Amino acid sequence: MRIKKAILTGGGRATRLQPITTTINKHLIPLANKPMIFHAIEKAVEAGVQEIFINTNPGETDLQQAIGDGGHWGIRIEFFEQTGGPQGIAHVVKEAERFIGNDPFMFYLSDNVLLGSLTEMFDKFHSGKYDCMLALSEVKDPERFGVPKFDVSGKLVDVLEKPQNPPNNFAVTGIYVYGPKIFFDAFDHIEKSPRGEYEISSIHSYFLKQGRDVGYTEITGWWKDTGKMDDLLIASQLLLDHMDEREFPHMGRVEAGAKISGKVHIGIGSRIAQNVEIKGPVIIGENCILNNCQIGPYVTVGSGTEVSGAQITDSIIFENNEIQTDLHITHSIIGKNVIIHKKTAEGGRSLIVGDKTIIEH
Ligand code: G1P
Repeated sequence: MRIKKAILTGGGRATRLQPITTTINKHLIPLANKPMIFHAIEKAVEAGVQEIFINTNPGETDLQQAIGDGGHWGIRIEFFEQTGGPQGIAHVVKEAERFIGNDPFMFYLSDNVLLGSLTEMFDKFHSGKYDCMLALSEVKDPERFGVPKFDVSGKLVDVLEKPQNPPNNFAVTGIYVYGPKIFFDAFDHIEKSPRGEYEISSIHSYFLKQGRDVGYTEITGWWKDTGKMDDLLIASQLLLDHMDEREFPHMGRVEAGAKISGKVHIGIGSRIAQNVEIKGPVIIGENCILNNCQIGPYVTVGSGTEVSGAQITDSIIFENNEIQTDLHITHSIIGKNVIIHKKTAEGGRSLIVGDKTIIEH
């Protein structure tokens, strides 16, 4: 039976990404001008998933509003809250049991970005008739992840959650596939970890102890948010580099004289004045106005943003911003509805800066 259902994570507090996450769910942070979770949804859809169930924080409405009912992708999407609050990611899956029934499914942590396709993993899961399939990726810091343990013959024998002395350099990424029922049976046999969570690694460890067939596949082109701002910029770069030329149409109005080179997407309704220089890869959203500025490489500008006077490189600019300054903005993340203005007539700078903002000047 092909995998038609998926559970995606959409909750969590992401305090390490403050101030951005003070007003926005981390899964809605734009990467390549698309909410982070859209990348996960699109990978699932591309691999044949038709129903997606997303957990949310209590009282969440933004995620539902941004994602909708799945019609945009021709699938069905439903949202659910964890009863009793957050208790670890294995608990998220347990809470979705009523949607999954006896079907095989994928569980995908939406802060994982995959550049390749999931189809190969799904095919391997089916052809190998596995109970569970893990996606592994080589990393420099395995102690931050679930880590597979192999015996001398190379057989997978255990999965250790964030081990202090990792036995190898592989991470179990946040992309998992399970056969019918087995996840929910296993859940009843695991305990909370010392950090008070039902760990997904405890499920896999239990499977292996029970002699279940746990397969694995190695993936490349994988990125995970580890709660640092720099990570977001790296993810943005990766995505921009891997996007196809065809995803960079010029749909707005580009005035004669504007210099545009490399992969540059210009959204509908945007206006690029003659004294603008854009070096791709760059994505300019819809209805933006760019005047007398230099943008790129590696910049994404959210819809409804105006830029004038600035040079912007290696940055993620969200929606509806007004940037009128002679500053060179680099390696920056700028939230929504931000105003950055020129010096005042007296030569000072007038700022309204929200909590926990970082300005290095
Ligand atoms: C979780 C899992 C870990 C896995 C990681 C992948 O960790 O517990 O096993 O390697 O996701 O994204 P978390 O990032 O929630 O601490």
